[in-house]
Amino acid sequence: MTQKRILNLIFLGPPGAGKGTQARMIQEKYSIPQISTGDLMRNEISSGSSLGNRLKSFIESGGLVPNELTLSILLNRIKKEDCKNGFLLDGFPRNVEQAEELEKALNGMNTELSGVIALEVDDSDLISRLSDRRICKGCGDSYHLQFKKPSVDGKCDHCGGELYQRRDDSEEVIKNRLKVYHEQTAPLIDFYSEKKKLSKINGKNKIDMIFSEICDIIDKLKS
Ligand code: AP5
Ligand code: MG
Ligand code: ZN
Repeated sequence: MTQKRILNLIFLGPPGAGKGTQARMIQEKYSIPQISTGDLMRNEISSGSSLGNRLKSFIESGGLVPNELTLSILLNRIKKEDCKNGFLLDGFPRNVEQAEELEKALNGMNTELSGVIALEVDDSDLISRLSDRRICKGCGDSYHLQFKKPSVDGKCDHCGGELYQRRDDSEEVIKNRLKVYHEQTAPLIDFYSEKKKLSKINGKNKIDMIFSEICDIIDKLKS
């Protein structure tokens, strides 16, 4: 019997690159959970918890949440049972310290990173992608007024949920998120390339084409 290979993946890319869109499709195809630190943080804020209150101002300004808080949220999540055959990190790590802490944690769990997929898109495209993005209140799926329209205006195709705009998708906050990405997150491209873990994808292509390129990379990692 062949042993099932664990797939511990990272999706790296600027805000609006399509990490969430692709991660949801990969989660379904390969049965590994998509772990978006942004989604976990927004859920925490919606719950009204004291942790959520601490996270709010960082997210609304487009800055990074401090590493200590982010790491505790992420490490608690990857220790859960559904991650034992692997996971797909969407939006983590976002700086070198987070990447180093992840490596230590995976070593401690007797596992390791399988690969990092970087989605590359120019800033000018990202602004329009994010300004016209709409997200389902029910299932969190994301749509775009031009590139991924829902069948019925304002409603999710999957669950019929109402579509809304994220508070940090205003032009001013988007610009700050892009600045933070270039200063703090983009250095991870070299970091993972030096470790021979990185695959780059042109994130400007059509959603389905990107998906099939990502599947090819994952299938190679699995074999
Ligand atoms: P997070 O929620 O991770 O947001 P982000 O990184 O800014 O990325 P987005 O979710 O905006 O974009 P995406 O790449 O998922 O794109 P999507 O698929 O939706 O983080 C939010 C905040 O939380 C951060 O600013 C920070 O404060 C905090 N945070 C989170 N993680 C943290 C961490 N590790 N450390 C510290 N702080 C952290 O697609 C975008 C749009 O484009 C959609 O409308 C979609 O339909 C459309 N689209 C997708 N693909 C295509 C395509 N190929 N062609 C055309 N349109 C497309
Ligand atoms: Mg996302
Ligand atoms: Zn929905």
